[in-house]
Amino acid sequence: MDAIDVIRAKRDGHALTPEQIDWTIAAYTRGDIAEEQMSSLAMAVLLNGMTRDEVARWTEAMIASGERMDWSSLDRPTADKHSTGGVGDKITLPLAPLVAACGAAVPQLSGRGLGHTGGTLDKLESIPGWRASLSNAEMLDVIASTGAVICAAGTGLAPADRKLYALRDVTGTVESIPLIASSIMSKKIAEGTGALVLDVKVGSGAFMKNVADARELAGTMVGIGTDHGVRTVALLTAMDRPLGRAVGNAVEVAESVEVLAGGGPEDVVELTVLLAREMLAAAGVDGRDPADALRDGSAMDVWRRMISAQGGDPDAPLPVAREAHEVLAPASGVLTRLDAYGVGVAAWRLGAGRARKEDPVSAGAGVICHARPGDTVREGQPLLTLYADDAARFDRALAALEGAYEIREGGEPDLLPLLIDR
Ligand code: URA
Repeated sequence: MDAIDVIRAKRDGHALTPEQIDWTIAAYTRGDIAEEQMSSLAMAVLLNGMTRDEVARWTEAMIASGERMDWSSLDRPTADKHSTGGVGDKITLPLAPLVAACGAAVPQLSGRGLGHTGGTLDKLESIPGWRASLSNAEMLDVIASTGAVICAAGTGLAPADRKLYALRDVTGTVESIPLIASSIMSKKIAEGTGALVLDVKVGSGAFMKNVADARELAGTMVGIGTDHGVRTVALLTAMDRPLGRAVGNAVEVAESVEVLAGGGPEDVVELTVLLAREMLAAAGVDGRDPADALRDGSAMDVWRRMISAQGGDPDAPLPVAREAHEVLAPASGVLTRLDAYGVGVAAWRLGAGRARKEDPVSAGAGVICHARPGDTVREGQPLLTLYADDAARFDRALAALEGAYEIREGGEPDLLPLLIDR
């Protein structure tokens, strides 16, 4: 087989054969297909799409490129959640211990942020001592002893996706529904979870800007999961404004701890409880209501044990950025819009995210939103506080916020519902 034939077939709008797909993924993983050839094929897929059978086979081949995790030694069913990424989306942090407190085991292999969307591992690494990289034996130990583990996927899991995702990221080929669906699902299926809840984000701060695209992505992923025997459910949820008040790393950990302590912003609590119920139902665990486990502190107990088991100190003060800058409300009225993308880019430019994979992130950088869409504000009151380690970052962050919020007297926000569809 020849890479050029495969590229030409997809370029000319044909469906790839199972043999072509298996060969392509295996050869690319071995290094026998050049990056420029794979880049060209990814662009042909982005432009011409894939059939359902092609996506299924492509996912299968990516799973087969590496190891599969096995949690069968655990004494309870496994459930995992995957979000397609957003701004202020810290839900995994309270959710994993909450679901564990209610009786399922949560093997949550997570990623880092890139661009304007944050990454769970970057957030957790702001906790002094906490380690994202665990051996498979350590993962099993943490989950067996605490009920949940949040860590980086090992290099052996879907290595084809690891290479391909890095390539797509720099070749303008991320935004392809077949490639996103196969990328996410190959990792989740190789991770070995029995049940999976997908939180497909919709809006300016998400990959999927509109409901129709999000629905197609969700349907494709649910189809792949179901075909592999993983009980898979997808929710479409709002990402037109930031989730909660905190956007960044340590600031999002602090907000997650508030939720675990029974407080926190309403939307974060609502989505956490909603996703927890879905995960427990998909895993077949019919026990406590997650809202009770937040109220009575049992989710917090799991969080503390899980953080300690990964070397972190749950009582250590979180890092604080050296510099702060307040954005004041320019007028009185109702905050009708607070754009997720604008706030996400601002947090990224403040140092919370990275421009290149190898860049470090700042633990303290980020944005606190003092007002949420729908709130009434007075001229001159603080709307946002920006945090950075270097004050020189404020100008570019402020530029990202231009036009990202709107205050109107007597106005009403035009927001997506938090839960758009299931
Ligand atoms: N997340 C992934 O893991 N893969 C994608 O392609 C997009 C988001």
